[in-house]
Amino acid sequence: MPVLEAENLVKTYTGARGTIRALDDVSLTVEKGQLFAFLGRNGAGKTTFIRIASTLLLPTSGSVRLFGYDVVTQPTDVRDRIALVPQEGRPFDHLTPREHIREYLRMRGSGAERASDRAAQVLHAMGLDDSADEPALRLSGGLQQRTLVAMILATDAPFLFLDEPTLGMDPVARRQVWKVIRQAARSGSTILLTTHYLDEAEHLADELAVIEDGKILYRGGSEALKSRVGREVRVQFDGAVPAELLRPYGDLFHEEDRSILLTTRAHVPTLTELALSRNLNLSMGPVTLEEAFLKLVGRGIEEDEEGSDEGGAW
Ligand SMILES: Nc1ncnc2c1ncn2[C@@H]1O[C@H](COP(=O)(O)OP(=O)(O)OP(=O)(O)O)[C@@H](O)[C@H]1O
Ligand SMILES: [Mg+2]
Repeated sequence: MPVLEAENLVKTYTGARGTIRALDDVSLTVEKGQLFAFLGRNGAGKTTFIRIASTLLLPTSGSVRLFGYDVVTQPTDVRDRIALVPQEGRPFDHLTPREHIREYLRMRGSGAERASDRAAQVLHAMGLDDSADEPALRLSGGLQQRTLVAMILATDAPFLFLDEPTLGMDPVARRQVWKVIRQAARSGSTILLTTHYLDEAEHLADELAVIEDGKILYRGGSEALKSRVGREVRVQFDGAVPAELLRPYGDLFHEEDRSILLTTRAHVPTLTELALSRNLNLSMGPVTLEEAFLKLVGRGIEEDEEGSDEGGAW
């Protein structure tokens, strides 16, 4: 059963660059209990979508319904059922993580005891025990962000919007947060998150949508997106290999000091020989979501760099 239904959503902004369509006819559904990842380059329209769906911004046209309630005409019914981690939000300097969670839960109607218990539980799960009673202004950036995410996950709201929830977190912290996000989904919350960490999307999401210039380019699972690349293996050469040598074997990505080729298994022996003859390290693995994403949004692929033989930014 879809709990979020966006239909023909359009949002235009008028500014110094003229009028831009931040969302250009977006239709999207998210099913109950799903962990849904919204991916896209900077400026693709992800935050705009979240702001409209969470009643913070009005659409130009089209509609979004959450649990059957219209975000424009029934915002209070929607707000009762959602919680949001805004992109690059900041905690209150003089409140501690524990106070953030406890007071937020009280504002949303929990009793004092229940709010304290839940705060202790979430602080522990998010690895915040040692920082729980420090004012936020004394916490590092990653701990401040964890405080905001803890505050929202503690609500157990039926729908959670997490706009880049793990921004600035170290790899250990991110995994702790993933665990708590998964628990929230298992206990029945539906979650829409955005992230630029594609390993995060791959680990967490049941389903994802890729948005570019306000339009949905892809909607489905991460495995299905990877298989659309049509290549089975990712081969990495440490050291630059002339593009013309590798191009016949697949899709070529250049980074400064390495070449990455998405290819098929049949070419692996030839490529191994090529690496040996040039004395280059070669490593192999499955195609990652990051490469599938780069291919989908048409960036970073060698053909974008016509005329430049080596390297280049992608
Ligand atoms: N208040 C605003 N006024 C004018 N233009 C805006 C406003 N907010 C966003 N935009 C523009 O709308 C487009 C979509 O922005 P949005 O913030 O939704 O992107 P995003 O996908 O969240 O990007 P990021 O990954 O950088 O967070 C961009 O071109 C942006 O410049
Ligand atoms: Mg954003």
